[in-house]
Amino acid sequence: MAATSWKRHHIISLSDFQPFEYDAVLQTAASFQEVLSRRTKKVPALQGQVIANLFFESSTRTRSSFELAAKRLSADTLNFAPGTSSMTKGETILDTAKTYLAMGTDIMVIRHREAGVPLAIANEMDRLQTRVGVFNAGDGQHEHPSQALLDLFTLCTLLDPEKPRLSLLQGKKIAIVGDILHSRVARSNIWSLTASGAEVHLVGPPTLLPKAFADFVNGNFTGSGGTEIPRKLFLHWSLEPALENADFVMALRIQKERMTSHLLPSLREYHWRYGITGDRLQHCQPDVKVLHPGPVNRGVEISSELMDDPKFSLISQQVTSGVAVRMALLYLMSSGKA
Ligand code: CP
Repeated sequence: MAATSWKRHHIISLSDFQPFEYDAVLQTAASFQEVLSRRTKKVPALQGQVIANLFFESSTRTRSSFELAAKRLSADTLNFAPGTSSMTKGETILDTAKTYLAMGTDIMVIRHREAGVPLAIANEMDRLQTRVGVFNAGDGQHEHPSQALLDLFTLCTLLDPEKPRLSLLQGKKIAIVGDILHSRVARSNIWSLTASGAEVHLVGPPTLLPKAFADFVNGNFTGSGGTEIPRKLFLHWSLEPALENADFVMALRIQKERMTSHLLPSLREYHWRYGITGDRLQHCQPDVKVLHPGPVNRGVEISSELMDDPKFSLISQQVTSGVAVRMALLYLMSSGKA
């Protein structure tokens, strides 16, 4: 596994990820995928380490997948839920993190509805000169790096199951459809997919893909630090040009809980204009595949039939990939600390 050259011990954002880091994640995840196909699906790689899942916002996939990944690596796991914690008695987030630090936590996996919380905790851990690694498991509308990396792994293993690598996506057309404005998944995927040399086409209603979004693209698009990566990103407000000859279509959840004003006439209208259906896939490549990070609003972002159609849908595969990819990330972060 490619752990020797790994230096990063916090993973907060993919904005400054370099191609060799994506390849290290893909290759390491492929090794762990092989482990997960064995009868004994466990390795002693993180024996004696403590991984704390600090989820201040709800989650099904990410939390369970990080927990299983940690257990498959033989780490000890701690799970935190704010509703049954001392936060109900007024304890702050930083004091909660310091409590887990005092128990000997090695890696904190953090989800929060506010952007910036994982970074704030990572900065505090560094200020205290600890060796704790912090993983951003989704912060507000900012980023969701492990989701983008498992999406990348799902796509690359489809193209070469033996040797998944970033360059396999070069020249592919990938449409990301829907609520871009509120999506941390879209933001992380933009970094990873454009780093591969794929053409990424964002499409959604103007209220969910405002023109100002181009500022994100133009202002930061070369990434912060490291080598500049030439990136190809396009914005559309109608679906057809984005779907035309697409190799992959990623639908995003309409995030009703983050909408502070009425940004859509109705979900029915949204589905009529932007919902991904079998008929609409006729604009794409014949072997197009569809992704969705989940949870899905069936019949809104994607038709229920398409979601369950194994010929087109990679949605279950994305969840399966999540365990091997998160094993790889915990393993690499642990090696980065050392
Ligand atoms: N995709 C994703 O983050 O799902 P959960 O909210 O269930 O973790």
